[in-house]
Amino acid sequence: MEFTSQLQSYRTRTEQGIDLLLPPATTRPTRLHAAMRYSLLAGGKRLRPILTLAAADIFNRANSQLPLAQPALPAPSADPLPVAVALECIHTYSLVHDDLPCMDNDDLRRGQPTCHKQFDEATALLAGDALLTLAFQLVARHYALTPSLALALTGILSEAAGSERLIGGQMEDLLAERKSAATANELDFIHHNKTGAMLTAALLAGGRCGGATDTQLSLLEDAGRHLGLAFQIVDDVLDATADSATLGKTAGKDAKAGKTTYVTLHGLDASGRYAREQTDAALAALNRLPGGAPFLSRLTENMAARTS
Ligand code: IPE
Ligand code: IPE
Ligand code: MG
Ligand code: MG
Ligand code: MG
Repeated sequence: MEFTSQLQSYRTRTEQGIDLLLPPATTRPTRLHAAMRYSLLAGGKRLRPILTLAAADIFNRANSQLPLAQPALPAPSADPLPVAVALECIHTYSLVHDDLPCMDNDDLRRGQPTCHKQFDEATALLAGDALLTLAFQLVARHYALTPSLALALTGILSEAAGSERLIGGQMEDLLAERKSAATANELDFIHHNKTGAMLTAALLAGGRCGGATDTQLSLLEDAGRHLGLAFQIVDDVLDATADSATLGKTAGKDAKAGKTTYVTLHGLDASGRYAREQTDAALAALNRLPGGAPFLSRLTENMAARTS
């Protein structure tokens, strides 16, 4: 399938999955479930679930082409959609909390008022908590028949979302705001963890569902690390150069908050070069996967050139 149709097909599958797997808005307490659905269904690029679905497809295809009598068959594949939705739940929770007044204090997200503006702070806090918890419920429920996969996915998600990765990155991001400037080393820690960890987890979860080998999982991890850094560098650049309407979130917030970013630390030109280097490194890892992972490679290029 051509890239754009494939991308749209993954996005549609993700959005149908979200709608199906989230409790209906009529579920008691309706205010909480309405807030969860509001933030999750508001839009967004759906990058993490798309990475999961596409990574799983690489191995589904490769495995289906193996001769039947292959002696060391990889693990059987499983539907990646529930864990793809789980990743989007965790990502969306992190955005809902990131936007709270005690964190980045943002009014606009995915082109709509942020959750705490649309509802209220306490509801946004609880909706975020509930989205994070739901992610693990989805994994427990939908992979119950393959307990070793359920365990592996729980490990991938909890590690990426935990205190040493996503939350640790967010903590250091806030701490860095309170001092004059973060060092390049501190900034890389922040970017790799607040953003890179979840992109890596998305690729690994897909790989696991598709039955990737350990060597293939290492390549996915490598690709995710470089894609993650490139992605956050571009996020920093867009914050400094794009407008809020295009971004669907408030532009210029990093400078206003006095955040150290790739742009403040290295300048716009060098940031562009670093993002390109990281994109190339991600492409090199993807290229070594079965079939050369053309969809993921094109997606990685798209993310480097994105405008929102
Ligand atoms: C925003 O993520 C937060 C970062 C990690 C930079 P995305 O740019 O993927 O946001 P959505 O999901 O498209 O809204
Ligand atoms: C947030 O980074 C990353 C997470 C939500 C974990 P940013 O604060 O730069 O994200 P935006 O720019 O608000 O989307
Ligand atoms: Mg932030
Ligand atoms: Mg923010
Ligand atoms: Mg940002």
